[in-house]
Amino acid sequence: MNGLQVLGTGRCLPGRRVTNEDFARTLDTSDEWIAGRTGIRQRYFCAEGETAASLATVAARRALDDADISPADVGVCIAATFTADRRTPALACEVQAALGLPETALCLDVNAACTGFVTALETARCLLLGGQMAGPYALVLGAEKISSLLDFSDRSTCVLFGDGAGAAVVRLDAQAPWAAVFGTRGDGQVLHGGGPDDPFLAMDGRAVFRFAVETVPRCIRAVLEKAGLTLGEVDRLVLHQANSRIIHGIARKLDEDPARFYENMQRYGNTSAASIPIALDEMRRDGQLLPGQTVLCAGFGAGLTWGGVLLRA
Ligand code: COA
Repeated sequence: MNGLQVLGTGRCLPGRRVTNEDFARTLDTSDEWIAGRTGIRQRYFCAEGETAASLATVAARRALDDADISPADVGVCIAATFTADRRTPALACEVQAALGLPETALCLDVNAACTGFVTALETARCLLLGGQMAGPYALVLGAEKISSLLDFSDRSTCVLFGDGAGAAVVRLDAQAPWAAVFGTRGDGQVLHGGGPDDPFLAMDGRAVFRFAVETVPRCIRAVLEKAGLTLGEVDRLVLHQANSRIIHGIARKLDEDPARFYENMQRYGNTSAASIPIALDEMRRDGQLLPGQTVLCAGFGAGLTWGGVLLRA
C-alpha cells in the first residue's frame, strides 16, 4: 500500500525545566488548576543559546543514529515548525548543513502548526513515491521554540506550551498500510500569534477544545475507512499532545479506551509539531512501539488544521 516505515527516531528537550509550581510563584495559577484542566505538570523551555535549529539538529542526529543509516542516503529532509529561528533559511536547511546531509537532498519547512508533523510525513511520502529524490530515506522533524511567542504574564496561554524537537527516519514500504486525511478551516481568530499586531500566541481556549473534540474523531474514522482497518487493528494511537482532557474527549467519541492513547503532555506541555515525534521516540525507546506495529497519528491546531496518517513501526 506504499506506506511509510519508521526506521529510527530521536528527540531533544531543552535545558530549562519549568514546573507548574514554578509558574505559581510568578502568576496567579496553581498546579491543581493547570494539571486538572490539561494534565500538564511541567515543560521545558530553551535556555540561553538553545534554538529551534539546535534542538532539531540533536533530535535528527539521534534519529539517524537509531536508524543506523548514513546521512548520505537521505533524499528528503522536512522540518515541521511554526517557530523557526528566522524566516530564511529554512530550519531543514540548517539541519542539512549541521548533519552533513547531501547537497542532493530536498530540504524544506512545513508550517501547519500542531498538524505539522503528520503533514510533513505525507509530504515526504509523496516526494519519495514520485521517484525523483536522490536518496531512499526521508528525515522528518518537528521542532519548536514556542517560548519565543509566549507572553509570560498571560496565565491562560503560557502554561500550556513547551519547547522541543522530535525526528523520524522513514522510507517507503510497499506492505505498510497507508491512509492520510487532512482538513483546514481557515480561522485566524481562534488560535494565532507571531504577527505585527499579535506578537504573542493568543487563543480562544474553549473554541480550540471544541474544535479538536469535534474534528479529530471524524478524521480518525476517515483514516480507518480509507485504509480498510478497524480501530482495534491499529496497535498504537498517538495524537497531538495538547491536553489530556482533549484526548479523553476524543476517546469517548470513538467509544475507545483512553488508555490506548499515548500521553506525555504531563512532562512536556504542548510542543506543537514536535509532540508526535517526541512521543514516537519515547515509545520506541521504552519498548512500547514494536517493529511491524501499525500506528495512527493525528494532529490538530492553528489554521485551523487537522490531519491523520498511518505509520508502520
Ligand atoms: N490558572 C488559573 N486560572 C486560569 C488560568 C491559569 N493558568 N488560565 C485561565 N484561568 C482562568 C480564566 O481566567 C477563567 O477565569 P474566569 O472564570 O474568572 O474568567 C477560568 O480560569 C476558567 O477559564 P475557562 O476558559 O473556562 O477554562 P477551561 O476549562 O476552558 O480551560 C483551557 C481552559 C485553556 C485549559 C482549555 O480551554 C483548553 O485546554 N483548551 C484548548 C487549548 C489548547 O490546547 N490549545 C492548543 C491546541 S493545539
